[in-house]
Amino acid sequence: MKIIGTGRAHPAKVVTNAMLEEFLDTSDEWIKERTGMSVRKVISDEKLEDLAIEASIKAIEDAGLKATDIDYIICSNVVNEYVTPSLSCIIQGGVGAKCACVDVNAACSGFIYALDMADDRLKSGKARNILVVAAEEPTRMVDWSDRSTCVLFGDGAGAVVVTQGEGMICSRLTTQSKTSCLYYKRMLEPTPYITKEETAGPMYMNGREVFKTAVLSSAKDITKLLKQAGLQPSDLKYYILHQANMRIIEAVANYLKLDMSYFPTNVERCGNTSSASVALLLDELHRDGKLQRGDKILMSAFGAGFTTAACIIEWTK
Ligand code: ACO
Repeated sequence: MKIIGTGRAHPAKVVTNAMLEEFLDTSDEWIKERTGMSVRKVISDEKLEDLAIEASIKAIEDAGLKATDIDYIICSNVVNEYVTPSLSCIIQGGVGAKCACVDVNAACSGFIYALDMADDRLKSGKARNILVVAAEEPTRMVDWSDRSTCVLFGDGAGAVVVTQGEGMICSRLTTQSKTSCLYYKRMLEPTPYITKEETAGPMYMNGREVFKTAVLSSAKDITKLLKQAGLQPSDLKYYILHQANMRIIEAVANYLKLDMSYFPTNVERCGNTSSASVALLLDELHRDGKLQRGDKILMSAFGAGFTTAACIIEWTK
C-alpha cells in the first residue's frame, strides 16, 4: 500500500490545564511535568461520527479521488455512542461511498492495525482504494472526578486513503492478554434471565504499569522493525509514536539515542486521542509540508489489551 491522502478533524472545545484546576485537585505544573500536556480538545456539541466524516472527506479530497472510488472502509474505534451499526457504516453514508465497511478495536494501536489490514487487502487484490479512519472519544470513558485519568485524554479523528503501491516497508503487531491494567466496562441492558453479578464503571488504568509496558514494547517493536528493514535509527525522518505521554516518547527517543527532532508530537495540544493520535499527527506533518517523497517514517502505538502495532512506511505522495 501507499498513502495518497490524509485528513483530520478536531472538536472545537479547548480545555486548558487551568480549566481542569477549577474542579480537580490538580495543577498546570503537575500535568505539564508528568504528561507534557497543556491543552486537549474535547467533544462538546459535536458527534464523533461528524468528526470522522470531516476527516475522511479531507483525506479523499487530498487523494484526488471521489467517494465512489473508495472500495473498502476500515474504522479504528474503541468507543462511540453506537454499539451498532459500526462507525464505518455511518462514515460510508456521510462521505457518499458505496463499499464494504468494518470497524476494528485494537485500542490505541488500532490505526496501525487497520493500516496493516488495508495493506493485506490491497496485496490480495480485493480492493484498490481504502479509506482508513481512526475516530476516538476517550474523554467519554473516564471519570471526570478522577484526576489520574481525566486530565490525560482528548478526542479527534484522523484519516488516510491508501492505494496499491510500495509504501509499506514492514509492520509488526503484538497482543498480550493483560486485561487488568487498563479497561473500561459498560453495563448491557438487563434481561429477565440474568442472574450473574455484573459490574461497570469508568476507565480503570494502572498508569505506572502502562507506562513501563508502553516504553518497553514500543522500544522492542522499533528495534525489531529497524533490524528487519536493515535501517539505522537515524535513517528515518520521523518516529510518529502514540501520543499518550511526552515522557514515554522521550524515553523511547533516549533508548534509540536520538534527539527529539525525530519525534514530532501533538500530545501537548491534543492530549491522548487513543488510536487517532498517530493519524492526526501524520496529517499535521503532511499538511505542514514536513514530509518529502522518499522519507521513511516509523509509526508505533500501544494500548489496552495489551496491544502494540508498528510499521515503517515510505512517504510516496
Ligand atoms: N494532578 C495532580 N496529582 C496527580 C494527578 C493529577 N492530575 N494524577 C495523579 N496524581 C498524583 C497521584 O495521586 C500520586 O499521588 P501520591 O504520590 O500522593 O499517591 C502522584 O500524583 C504520583 O502518581 P503516579 O501515578 O505515580 O504518577 P506518574 O508519574 O506515574 O504519572 C501518569 C501518572 C501520567 C498516568 C503516567 O503513569 C502515565 O502516563 N502512564 C501511562 C498512561 C498511558 O500511556 N495511558 C494510555 C495508554 S493506552 C491508551 O491510550 C488508552
